[in-house]
Amino acid sequence: MREPERSGDLPPNATEGAENRSAGGGTESDAGAHLRASTGPTRRIIAIGGGKGGIGKSLVAVTLAIELVRRGMRVVLVDCDLGGANLHSLLGMEYPKGTLSDFVLRRVGSLAELVVPTPVAGLGLISGARNAIQVANPMYQQKMRLMRALQHIDADVAVLDLGAGTHYNVVDFFLLADHGVLVVVPEPTSVENAYRFLKAAFLRRVKAMDAGLGIREILQEVVRPGGQRPLVPAEMVLAVAERDPAAGAALEREMATFRPLLIVNQVREPADLTLGDGMCDAARRLFGLDLIYLGHLRHHELVWRAVRAREPSYYERPGTPFALELSAVAGRLLELPTAGGIRP
Ligand SMILES: Nc1ncnc2c1ncn2[C@@H]1O[C@H](COP(=O)(O)OP(=O)(O)OP(=O)(O)O)[C@@H](O)[C@H]1O
Ligand SMILES: [Mg+2]
Repeated sequence: MREPERSGDLPPNATEGAENRSAGGGTESDAGAHLRASTGPTRRIIAIGGGKGGIGKSLVAVTLAIELVRRGMRVVLVDCDLGGANLHSLLGMEYPKGTLSDFVLRRVGSLAELVVPTPVAGLGLISGARNAIQVANPMYQQKMRLMRALQHIDADVAVLDLGAGTHYNVVDFFLLADHGVLVVVPEPTSVENAYRFLKAAFLRRVKAMDAGLGIREILQEVVRPGGQRPLVPAEMVLAVAERDPAAGAALEREMATFRPLLIVNQVREPADLTLGDGMCDAARRLFGLDLIYLGHLRHHELVWRAVRAREPSYYERPGTPFALELSAVAGRLLELPTAGGIRP
């Protein structure tokens, strides 16, 4: 079982056309029209992240959204991969005309104007930014406006597909969600990136809760002991508690409410099945975090071929081995209380 790498100190700003297909495989027209009104708030926000690129975050986001529609929910998928939007492709659609760029750059006033119906009846899509250079790293105010608007999409569930990496512009969307889902594949680089992602999320939460407690200052002192390895989050909490018990207790309380979820994707061998529980153990020990394991998805050749062919009917279909695994994962997620993320 690999453990989180201990490198990575507290960075300076780290603490800162076709007919609609129904989800069951039938057809239905004008799906998504009911999603256009903007009355909100969104009842549940689910964000799919994972640090590493190309591990199946977008596939999980799309197929989880379809599964939730199948369970009777009104769902909007939001392509928050501000540097590499591609959910439309996974849904077999052309690039929608309106995208998040239009919202970020104030060409439209609300996200509701950007929700387009998808070929899956009951599923709306807000496509990702087209002009990545302008939008991939939005300015603070632009991001805050987007984060506020995401909480008011008129749907039962908004599923946010995040980009790769652990930049705070990715992590903040993860923390906004009621359920932040971490996708990993059984490869050392993916596992390392997932831990890195968790650490970045931990530090962002510290920043968000810090008002007046002085935790950042304490951390700045304790995480840079010359020449020694950086502290893992569990050690940071202890170090803060030693210097200031009240701040330590507040930090511990805050961390107890941070309960990210885990999906192990692209499982190929029996040995891969131990990864989920192993990562949860390591997260508890080293991060003091309750990482909740939702289950695994095997690598399915037919899914891979369908994605490659831009032919989503296979992974949209219920009852396939992939859909059954995904449904089990979704069922576990829906049993969890909506935690409420960090909301600007
Ligand atoms: N369970 C699976 N079975 C088969 N293929 C899979 C599975 N999960 C993901 N893939 C394949 O992995 C590739 C990458 O998937 P995807 O685009 O969803 O990754 P991503 O993490 O969103 O990537 P990026 O970081 O670039 O946005 C796709 O070809 C997809 O079909
Ligand atoms: Mg993606």
